[in-house]
Amino acid sequence: MRIIDATRGRPHALQLALCDEMLTAQLENYFAENGMDVRNYGGGDGIPEMKRIFAELLRVDMNEVIVGGNSSLNMMFDCVATFVLERKWGANSKFICPSPGYDRHFSICEYFGIEMITVPMTPDGPDMDAVEELVRDPQVAGMFCVPVFSNPQGYVYSDETIARLAKMHAAHPAFRIIWDDAYTIHHFSGERPQPLNILDECRKNDNESRPILFTSFSKISVAGASVSCAAAAGESFKILQKRIAAQTIGPDKINQLRHARYFKNKNGIEAHMKKHAEILRPKFELVINAFEKNFAATNATFTKPLGGYFISVEIPGNAKHVCQLCKDSGVIITEAGATFPYGIDPADSNLRFAPTFLSSEELEKALEVFCLSVQKAVK
Ligand SMILES: Cc1ncc(COP(=O)(O)O)c(C=O)c1O
Repeated sequence: MRIIDATRGRPHALQLALCDEMLTAQLENYFAENGMDVRNYGGGDGIPEMKRIFAELLRVDMNEVIVGGNSSLNMMFDCVATFVLERKWGANSKFICPSPGYDRHFSICEYFGIEMITVPMTPDGPDMDAVEELVRDPQVAGMFCVPVFSNPQGYVYSDETIARLAKMHAAHPAFRIIWDDAYTIHHFSGERPQPLNILDECRKNDNESRPILFTSFSKISVAGASVSCAAAAGESFKILQKRIAAQTIGPDKINQLRHARYFKNKNGIEAHMKKHAEILRPKFELVINAFEKNFAATNATFTKPLGGYFISVEIPGNAKHVCQLCKDSGVIITEAGATFPYGIDPADSNLRFAPTFLSSEELEKALEVFCLSVQKAVK
């Protein structure tokens, strides 16, 4: 039996190929705009042109940006490690985890023994009444947020949610929000969401150190040779900068320069993302049409994202069963429960559908199996 692997949100080879020119083009010279020779040591926090591009993307000041290597997840892991090692977060720290959410955020918490507290997600972001109640606990040290095209729903946080996150009183003295803006420019509807600026809002409320923003080029250029960044202000920036200064005498600045020269600025990125959108939009449309047609007589519901990499499906009481039925027919989807802390979905309801990595032919096959499995399971 041919196995179709739809477990993870990877870009398709056609998307990777959009950037071949960047990988094969020769750099005219090896000097960043500040004169730094990118072939040499130095520039631990990034070259200026790459900082400026990230600053534009995240709507922060370029002096608030630290450029990292291939993976923003790596930077998030390091950030949590730093707060633990700097004793900002103690042994009994807890994290708020809006769920369904991104399994790898949960893996970071598990690795550091941080207790995870599930908060339900709504189309406007995390349930803010629950969040505001939880942050009154002095052991709640932080939370994960994917504000734009959340993984797995594709929701975009409302301005009200962002304003409340910035304003709420947190009892923990070093409460932080890991603001994972992985899909900030990954829209395929033609309109980039522009939610409230979290750092500005936090600043207005004397909480400038609260958000630590992350993003990367993993799904803009190539996931295997991308550039990522962290952005923060106040004490948070100082903590991250101190870590970088001790940790490295220079990242891969050649790759930074390659990215900066190829993409140039936000407009360059927007133009490139249109090409991704041309590949992604039809796949998402295929999935949504199939779900609309096949779930009509079932209690299954699903999201209809306008960007990002996933579609979230709710099949109360039947997620594990559907997952198994798919597997039996050769289609592997993300394990039921993976979108919740500790892998436990209390309602056994949520499944994450990832259409991007599959060819159109594989996607059609995967959809046929998935829809039949849902129909069979809910009978
Ligand atoms: C919400 C979210 N954050 C981060 C990542 C990974 O980003 P990176 O490739 O920069 O490590 C992903 C990848 O699927 C993601 O969905």
